[in-house]
Amino acid sequence: MTTKEKSRVLEHQSLDLLNQAVALMEESFSEANLPSYDSSLDTMQTERLQAVLNEVATRLKDNFPYPHPLYAGQMIKPPHVVARLAYTLALWFNPNNHALDGGRASSAMEKEAVANLASMLGFSDHLGHLTSGGTMANLEALWVADRLHPGKMIVASSQAHYTHSRISEVLKIPYKSVAVDSQARMDVKELESMLKSNDIGTVVVTTGTTATGSVDPLLQILELQKNYKFRIHIDAAYGGYFKLANNLSEHAREVFDAIGQADSIVIDPHKHGLQPYGCGCVLFKDPSVGKFYKHDSPYTYFSSDQLHLGEISLECSRPGASAVALWATQKLLPMEANSEFAKNMATCRSTALEFCDKLNNDEHFIVPFEPELDIVVFAVKTKSASESSAKAKEIFAKTAEAGLHLAVANLPASFFKDKIPDFNWDQDNIACLRSCLMKPEHHEWLPEIWGILTNSVLRSS
Ligand SMILES: Cc1ncc(COP(=O)(O)O)c(C=O)c1O
Repeated sequence: MTTKEKSRVLEHQSLDLLNQAVALMEESFSEANLPSYDSSLDTMQTERLQAVLNEVATRLKDNFPYPHPLYAGQMIKPPHVVARLAYTLALWFNPNNHALDGGRASSAMEKEAVANLASMLGFSDHLGHLTSGGTMANLEALWVADRLHPGKMIVASSQAHYTHSRISEVLKIPYKSVAVDSQARMDVKELESMLKSNDIGTVVVTTGTTATGSVDPLLQILELQKNYKFRIHIDAAYGGYFKLANNLSEHAREVFDAIGQADSIVIDPHKHGLQPYGCGCVLFKDPSVGKFYKHDSPYTYFSSDQLHLGEISLECSRPGASAVALWATQKLLPMEANSEFAKNMATCRSTALEFCDKLNNDEHFIVPFEPELDIVVFAVKTKSASESSAKAKEIFAKTAEAGLHLAVANLPASFFKDKIPDFNWDQDNIACLRSCLMKPEHHEWLPEIWGILTNSVLRSS
């Protein structure tokens, strides 16, 4: 049966499985020889709980329909059912992965899950841990970079996530952005000229930019590293899991195969890794950078001489539940070539290519370049940049009315200039429509997505 033939957007049969697993965990208390203690709810408590929960459910209706395949806008992917259940299960213990004193089992699961990510990305040795998201993970990577090259500049492309310039400001590290080419990839010639005239300590290479999913030319940057001795930090917060897709362009394939040559990598399991929000990951190739985190804690670190994750993380308390959810997801869906997980990543990219093809063959749209991952951006064909931007916003609203949720991104004129010769560039940027096709189900739903989009164009003024 296809996902269109049945209609239950919010899966819930799995709640029975949760009940069984909670009962299994309960056994640990009878085994622990503790005096009896009963936390069951009485009728009054249950009724009050139900009332508040129902109010929460009602409040939560005020959201875009993220789990539905017709939500195809921002980078939002529903967590896998196993992640949702394992996360919830862990909450009965609410482990804290700061110290082994707060979360023994979940710390072990975090170390295993992180080792899996490191090996998937090509690090044979590593130091790493989970973070609250991509921003904290990148902050730690840039903080370590600065400890190794104090005061030297950090550079990233002008299409890199804005978090890098903000983090550099917080850490008081000099920062500059490097221009991009017409495919939104870092311009290597410009990087080289900056390397000649600046004291650059670290180059941030984005393998999957936020706006367009573009992949910076890592191989050429690795060549430059031989002459100019800088650190390479890869921001694969969005794109990291595409390493497993078997249908990348030649350029992206080469880059993802070389990712393991970087000094540090960030990947966000809460983007393409099917995790609830609150799950980023930072990885260092050289485990000795752990020395920068060294500190004494007068409160924790008592129950074991083994590594406490708080000894290699800037954040103190961290949710053990995140680690449990990630571990469970990797157990159910191993991150291996040709696995179900890998095939789903490949499906996202092929959906983006098919969507791009349809756009290219339609007289109303202009696609600046082929998507490298699963993010498609396109402008509306009109006479001027301001007219096109206004029309994109109108279509965005019209598709939403019809149930299809896209996003809007402001892109530089340079991505389009050679595509539309007789165009009035009355402004430097153009508002484009943008779609992150992150759900494998988007493939089956592409005809509906296309139908609503083209209908909305016809209905626009
Ligand atoms: C490439 C990239 N880096 C970093 C971030 C920031 O990650 P987070 O939102 O998890 O803090 C994002 C978010 O979209 C991203 O796309």
